Amino acid sequence: MSLLEIQHAVVRHHLSALRTTATEPAEFRRLIQRLAGCLAYEATRDLRSAAVEVHTPLTTVTGSQLADRIGLVPIMRAGLGMVDPVLDLIPDAVVWHLGIYRDEERATPVEYYCRIPEAPPVEVALILDPMLATGGSARAAVTVLKARGIRQIKILSVIAAQPGIRAVQAEHPDVAIFTCAVDPDLNNRSFIVPGLGDAGDRQFKT
Ligand code: PRP
Repeated sequence: MSLLEIQHAVVRHHLSALRTTATEPAEFRRLIQRLAGCLAYEATRDLRSAAVEVHTPLTTVTGSQLADRIGLVPIMRAGLGMVDPVLDLIPDAVVWHLGIYRDEERATPVEYYCRIPEAPPVEVALILDPMLATGGSARAAVTVLKARGIRQIKILSVIAAQPGIRAVQAEHPDVAIFTCAVDPDLNNRSFIVPGLGDAGDRQFKT
């Protein structure tokens, strides 16, 4: 069971702007990108590498090349805003889209789109979603990936609520969660408190 909450002054700075109601969609998208890059940096720290011979202008040295193949799974809609910064870091990653929205009445996940092959040719999958509230969407996404045989799954979530983290860990103790902030509560509509509102609406101005 692993949870990493990034402890970093710059992350806290950008996260505060992200939470702020007055932050407009254009800036909100930039902040999501910045923080997603930080999450990806942490979540890819332990990827497997292979030694390669590198010719510098002066000599030859043993360098390193990523050996794990990576799949990115953004959960639509809000996860879409995290794709580009993660691809910047791992340009060879494959992107598979998964559409899940939360039923507003019951706060339960509803899958509406799945563009993931039956046997994805990767060793590691990174689920991208700015928010983990009840954890229902993340749990559903992990279940989809496990059913397709992916063994190493990590969740990258800008904000994660304590109850949702517990729910994911209870069902999928082997899945690592990376977040910029662990928020304590959910309100009676299952919104994260203090949170940042709805990351999809705020990115896409809806
Ligand atoms: C939000 C968010 C997560 C989910 C988190 O999506 O982006 O996918 O809710 O809640 P949970 O942990 O309780 O499942 P939403 O349903 O608002 O869809 P959207 O991304 O299209 O806005």
